[in-house]
Amino acid sequence: AFFKSAYLPLAGKTIIVTSGPTVEPIDPVRYIANRSSGKQGHAIAAALARLGATVRLVSGPVSIPDPEGVSLIHVETAQQMKSAVESLLPADAAVMVAAVADWRVESEWAQKLKKSPGGAPPTLRMVENPDILAGVGHHAKRPRLVVGFAAETQDLLANAKRKLERKGADWIVANDVSHTSGVMGGDRNTVRIVSKRGVEDWPDMSKEEVASRLAEKIAEALSPPSA
Ligand code: CTP
Ligand code: CA
Repeated sequence: AFFKSAYLPLAGKTIIVTSGPTVEPIDPVRYIANRSSGKQGHAIAAALARLGATVRLVSGPVSIPDPEGVSLIHVETAQQMKSAVESLLPADAAVMVAAVADWRVESEWAQKLKKSPGGAPPTLRMVENPDILAGVGHHAKRPRLVVGFAAETQDLLANAKRKLERKGADWIVANDVSHTSGVMGGDRNTVRIVSKRGVEDWPDMSKEEVASRLAEKIAEALSPPSA
């Protein structure tokens, strides 16, 4: 126990983390984005670094400070996030916390769209973005541990289990965002860890605590079984 605090269980391990929203341009002044403060993803990146991991954080635009001890790649769109993440493979683990925009505008207008008096609003033709988590989960250089997040407003467990399988993830950290408890942008989070082996319910805790506890669980999963 004396050595515990000096021992870094993730030393020598490389972990990719995505955080924040992605931002998809409409024209030079407008965009479509998801709601995400980046608090949970950034806290996870910092917690993994505290346990000794080499952390590569790929983040969309956020207004919180850069986490300590982490190398940070800034991106805007889902396509940029995907290529940044894949360029970082191989890695020991990937934790995809980003709120990736599901759709982007098919072709961005080169000039600012202008209102014309009495004219109709523009119609946006959308196309689906690539699924970054699924890409990593099914990649030839798949990390040993792949973790996704899922914010759900209904059928939490069924949806999380479907995502686990479809995306080739080992764990889905699921949270219920239906109630107005302010998970979005707030400092607290109630999550359930869904894996093939079952469901682990964690009590309501701060996003910092979720991050520390998840980092410890990741360290356990990546360490060889003790002799
Ligand atoms: N994700 C991703 N790339 C996408 C969409 C989602 O990497 N294009 C990741 C998220 O970072 C998260 C997980 O997939 O780790 C689940 O995201 P979520 O939005 O809940 O899943 P979707 O498959 O987009 O399903 P839906 O939004 O329809 O619930
Ligand atoms: Ca989505």
